[in-house]
Amino acid sequence: KSCFILGAPIETGASQPGCLMGPAALRTAGLIASLRGLGWDVRDLGDVTIPEVAPVAHPNPVLRNLAQTIAWIEALEPRAYEAAKGCDLPIFMGGDHSISAGTVPGVARAAAEAGRPLFVLWLDAHPDLHTLDTTESGNLHGTPVAYFTGQPGCEAYPPLAAPVPPENLCLMGIRSVDGAEHTRIHDLGVEVHDMRVIDEFGVLKPLREFLERVEAANGLLHVSLDVDFLEPGIAPAVGTTVPGGATFREAHLIMETLCDSGLVSSLDLVELNPFLDERGRTATLMCDLAASLMGRRVLDRPTRRFF
Ligand code: ARG
Ligand code: MN
Ligand code: MN
Ligand code: MN
Repeated sequence: KSCFILGAPIETGASQPGCLMGPAALRTAGLIASLRGLGWDVRDLGDVTIPEVAPVAHPNPVLRNLAQTIAWIEALEPRAYEAAKGCDLPIFMGGDHSISAGTVPGVARAAAEAGRPLFVLWLDAHPDLHTLDTTESGNLHGTPVAYFTGQPGCEAYPPLAAPVPPENLCLMGIRSVDGAEHTRIHDLGVEVHDMRVIDEFGVLKPLREFLERVEAANGLLHVSLDVDFLEPGIAPAVGTTVPGGATFREAHLIMETLCDSGLVSSLDLVELNPFLDERGRTATLMCDLAASLMGRRVLDRPTRRFF
């Protein structure tokens, strides 16, 4: 099994600097060696860069770094497309969550060419469902989901070859939703499992139901893991902590279940801000979660399929 690693050191979508160092911290934490130890054929493709850009005007005056974000999307989409075609499971290392405005459209285009529907599992405290018109913070890491599902209001971003239908989305861990996002979730009928659902049913029931849908559709599955999905006490290295996140055990169980499903075809590791970390613990946790997704187990056990 082959895995390409691609760094996307973007911090222009976040409110504070630091995510630029994310790919370096994930490499330092040993991501590549641990995947090789699990038997993966890993190739590190290095980090993507963008050229210098001129400002782009937009009617929403609060938008920050729109020109850079457009340039990142243009740079990342073809790299993600190539990576999806070139290996079994590419890992995209952010960078803030605006990387997914490039990675998801790229893997979606590859999936469409392969005649497979793409599903997206969004593990995050936030739905990131703002359009360029509705964001109030102006931080564009809050916009990728609206963009790659083709919502009106994202026309300043590059045109999409293959929008992801909103019904192919599953959002888990959600606990901070802005007004416009709330409306959009209801209007689009997006599958959202907020922390209330996880408290009532645990992570497995909603996850297995979603995986059943992916499997029934012969779909490919992109997983986007935002550090702030996790409880801040175990993952402090993120600029947008929200209390009440997923525990260490819930997060690993999700990753192991995803591994068992055999459905995951690409992964984003995003929003790691190493400047805010404590002795590398968040970087290490993100690497360990990736390892669980890629096959690490405490004990050998038969793959149990519940669906
Ligand atoms: N909804 C808030 C905003 O638009 C927070 C977005 C946080 N997104 C993230 N990728 N961390 O500013
Ligand atoms: Mn996010
Ligand atoms: Mn978030
Ligand atoms: Mn509601």
